[in-house]
Amino acid sequence: MMNTIQVQLGARSYPIYIGVDNLCKSDILTRHIKSKQVVIVTNETVAPLYLEKVKAHLQPYQLEEVILPDGEQYKTLAIMENIFDALLAGKFSRNTTLIALGGGVIGDISGFAAACYQRGIPFIQIPTTLLAQVDSSVGGKTGVNHALGKNMIGAFYQPQSVIIDVNVLNTLDDRQLSAGLAEVIKYGLIRDAEFFSWVEANIEKILARDQDSLIYIIEQSCQNKAEIVAADEKESGIRAILNLGHTFGHAIETGAGYGTYLHGEGVAIGTCQAADLSRRLGWLNDADVVRIITLFKKAGLPTEPPSELSAEEMISLMAVDKKNVDGDIRLILLNKIGEASLPVGVERALLLETLNEYGREQ
Ligand code: NAD
Ligand code: GLY
Repeated sequence: MMNTIQVQLGARSYPIYIGVDNLCKSDILTRHIKSKQVVIVTNETVAPLYLEKVKAHLQPYQLEEVILPDGEQYKTLAIMENIFDALLAGKFSRNTTLIALGGGVIGDISGFAAACYQRGIPFIQIPTTLLAQVDSSVGGKTGVNHALGKNMIGAFYQPQSVIIDVNVLNTLDDRQLSAGLAEVIKYGLIRDAEFFSWVEANIEKILARDQDSLIYIIEQSCQNKAEIVAADEKESGIRAILNLGHTFGHAIETGAGYGTYLHGEGVAIGTCQAADLSRRLGWLNDADVVRIITLFKKAGLPTEPPSELSAEEMISLMAVDKKNVDGDIRLILLNKIGEASLPVGVERALLLETLNEYGREQ
């Protein structure tokens, strides 16, 4: 069983292959490799699980692997150097294909390395977390963190293909599965109310890793993302809605120290804060906000900000965000469940109300 979703970007269009056992399908793995040289980038957790499986299908190529340390704290320019070291030491040419095998950290860092090496080499995404399968591997946002801001150094650079094997989720722990669900729920909230309701109705099956349910949420998520990216590749407009909850969430990730909160966990808390702020603006009602918080909780995600991060610290961290204009904080909020706003500036007093009051009752 395999489904293909096309990301329509003219000459840079590419397929997302979604299926079971795709890592065992030579045809899919090699279809978009147009070189003799291939470098696989992965990390020390994913390598023992899936590297040999992928390599088994790539024997005809001159093959090299780069195994990075595991963790958000290693998504840095310094760690990215390891990829350039291997490419240069192995005399890899400009037509080399780079394969990113791992979660969003590996996908983002490898994609950025591919964008930079000799000013751009082809790359393929093989996402192995739910979060990477439903979001980060699609759309060409690549990059690394800076100590002062998340994903602040990077490039838009599209892959040749995205190869999703649902089976790899069997080795993912429950916390990581839940983190991926934060982005799945996001698609429902920003543009697909029917999908939000479907996830609400099927959350137990999803958490039990029912294969058909997992395939369905991956397909719906990738379809939503592919449509948004096709409409606005470089985020001059509608693509910004994919950042619902992310301004708050990135501040939490950065403020708590990279790796303390998973990206999806930051997004879950941040989306609840965005929902609270939307309610204060009169856009959502109380019942909508409860519905949103309840679904995140059922999905196994945190919904309240860390008590050690004050509202003032959050504001300071939120001032470093790619949606900001002339230094002013701009947020994606919800007009209703199933419809997000474009980036809006809100009165500082109202934002402070959310930051001081939402989730800080005890
Ligand atoms: P991650 O890459 O850190 O992976 C989570 C953990 O799961 C890691 O320890 C990893 O080694 C492990 N892992 C990966 N696959 C596994 C498997 N199949 N079995 C067992 N363990 C496995 O985190 P993530 O949640 O995948 O990605 C988060 C990153 O993605 C963040 O840096 C975030 O900024 C980025 N992101 C980027 C985009 C984008 O559009 N480029 C979108 C969303 C998130
Ligand atoms: N994850 C946000 C985006 O791809 O635009």
